[in-house]
Amino acid sequence: MDYALITGSSSGLGYCIAKVFAKHGITPILTGRDQASLNRAANFIQRESALNPIRFAGNLTDDSIPMALHRFICDQGITPRYLVHNLGGGIQGDCKNPPLCVLRKSFRLNFEVSIEINSIFYDDLKKTSAKIVHIGSTSSLHHDAPPSYLTSKSAILPYVKNAARSFAKDGLTIFAVLPGMLDHPGSYVDRLRIGDPDRHDRFLEKMTYGQFVPSIEVAHYIVSLCLVESNMINGSIITIDGGVD
Ligand SMILES: NC(=O)c1ccc[n+]([C@@H]2O[C@H](COP(=O)([O-])OP(=O)(O)OC[C@H]3O[C@@H](n4cnc5c(N)ncnc54)[C@H](OP(=O)(O)O)[C@@H]3O)[C@@H](O)[C@H]2O)c1
Repeated sequence: MDYALITGSSSGLGYCIAKVFAKHGITPILTGRDQASLNRAANFIQRESALNPIRFAGNLTDDSIPMALHRFICDQGITPRYLVHNLGGGIQGDCKNPPLCVLRKSFRLNFEVSIEINSIFYDDLKKTSAKIVHIGSTSSLHHDAPPSYLTSKSAILPYVKNAARSFAKDGLTIFAVLPGMLDHPGSYVDRLRIGDPDRHDRFLEKMTYGQFVPSIEVAHYIVSLCLVESNMINGSIITIDGGVD
């Protein structure tokens, strides 16, 4: 039985990725802070796939939680074959000239936790020749986003390029996927659609194909890239935005 650990996977893109892994017979390990949301997500996946997703509730930005996640997974005698660092997002107060506390929170959420998890899980991941995916953002390329978010997401790029060189020697594969503006129930653009339709439409005008990036489609790309029996994707930075810019 193969397992996929996906951070931030009780909703949004992470949940979509978990669902697609399950469709391929790979048991997702779901993480999130809210136990009820995790149970809801796991129940949906179970109904669709007959697999029983593993759930870990905890705030991954808290210092002790990445280690607790590792203990939790080890205690079940499981080693993930796939690891998707999906955790990330905006921080309140991240606007022009953000204070240091905002920058730090953003780095912790969007970058640091993923590096810490790679470090803690490294020896386990070697055993399964794991595929590691970091979810970045196209804002790293067009620089049009809140400054702390954009800076912390951008840090993923050189990290992945550098890690690919050394991780490959241990049989690991690591790459980054940079989606454009995601569309799923409750996403930023989904909320704008209802709360601020004018702003929603202005964003939509910028989209090459007249649509935002459906999260479920990004999830299918990510899982299919993970399932290819090749390590040629190692170190790749893949943009999925429909050719927006
Ligand atoms: N949304 C976009 O338009 C967009 C565009 C480009 C890139 N991205 C990137 O794509 C990834 C997914 O984005 P998304 O919009 O799907 O995210 P999201 O909806 O904000 O993610 C929610 C998931 O993360 C969990 N989560 C949030 N904070 C957590 C914490 N501190 N510890 C543990 N779990 C936590 C949530 O569960 P709980 O709330 O229960 O904790 C939930 O499962 C992110 O890395 C984001 O930066 C997003």
